[in-house]
Amino acid sequence: MSVNFLDLAVSGVQGLHPYQPGKPIDELARELGLNEADIVKLASNENPLGPSPAIEAAIKEQLAELTRYPDGAGFELKAELCKRLGVEMNQITLGNGSSDILDFIVRVFIEKGDNVVVAAHSFSIYGLVTRAAGGDVIEVPAVNWGHDLAAMAAAINDKTRIVFVTNPNNPTGTYNTRDEFEAFLQAVPENVVVLLDEAYFEFVNKPDYPNGMDYLSQYPNLVVSRTFSKAYGLASLRVGFSVSSPQLADLMNRIRPPFNVDSFALAAARAALMDDAYLAKSLEVNSQGMAQLTAAFEELKLSYIPSVGNFVCFKLPEGYKDAEVNQQLLAQGVIIRPVANYQMPGYIRVSIGTQAENQTFIEALKKVLA
Ligand SMILES: Cc1ncc(COP(=O)(O)O)c(C=O)c1O
Repeated sequence: MSVNFLDLAVSGVQGLHPYQPGKPIDELARELGLNEADIVKLASNENPLGPSPAIEAAIKEQLAELTRYPDGAGFELKAELCKRLGVEMNQITLGNGSSDILDFIVRVFIEKGDNVVVAAHSFSIYGLVTRAAGGDVIEVPAVNWGHDLAAMAAAINDKTRIVFVTNPNNPTGTYNTRDEFEAFLQAVPENVVVLLDEAYFEFVNKPDYPNGMDYLSQYPNLVVSRTFSKAYGLASLRVGFSVSSPQLADLMNRIRPPFNVDSFALAAARAALMDDAYLAKSLEVNSQGMAQLTAAFEELKLSYIPSVGNFVCFKLPEGYKDAEVNQQLLAQGVIIRPVANYQMPGYIRVSIGTQAENQTFIEALKKVLA
């Protein structure tokens, strides 16, 4: 009789479903016999600009070192981060994408019987890595689609080890203000870690939006994670990082695989940090694209959740099913993200693309809703 390895898997893994990423462009091209160039992907909150020449040069330079292991300590990238963020080397943990950081913090603190607190409609990886580690997830209902930070602090119990705060949140695009975040930090017991996920930090342009780095010296239980996948345009290379107290960084670095960020990613991330023009262009294209999309939603009388990120969720009119709309958009070569799996049935998340990509999406949507 053949072995059923499902029965042998650790209990937390047995009930998991794999993370559902946005559909890759080449997959849709294969399925529908379309040209890849004719497909518009606005499904994974990626940067629509394409790589800057500075990144290509940094990567080419690394080719000569292909046979060598990367610098496991990531010295040069960390040095540049320290300079820009005003932090010390021993506060930084590098990740193969910031997803790696989320996994590290959970593996450091969670075992069977422990729990984490998350907000409803927040990034699904928090729950996935926690359950894999045998932990439980306490999900706190949202208010106006955003984190209810006071309720999240109140949900902490004696088995809570981590609270995940996503600011701004994906997929809703909502954010918490400085006042809300400060009151929250004060309410969280000092032995509970706050993982502040700032994957979309760079896009936010609000005077009352808090910068997680400002709270590190006062709160040794705070971990701020950021990524190069979004505003810096390096999603494919997989590089992110966290800044925390040296003690939390030391614990995460104990379980970090020694070469989790490769030489190309290290060099490209450093070049991206120094490429102020590319970042400025990303933010400009994003704010123009956000205005373009929300104007179209208003014209089409579609309600949407105001977003400070590089994506926005809109609601389909009564009678339209998200799975069907998704198929009809795919058939026109437009990839977006239905978010029913985030308990948002009837909502679709669309990432901000270039002006032309946004227009293609708007035209395709108009046809579906006609
Ligand atoms: C809120 C949030 N956190 C973290 C990530 C992980 O990104 P990466 O692993 O590419 O850094 C994402 C990716 O979409 C995200 O939306």
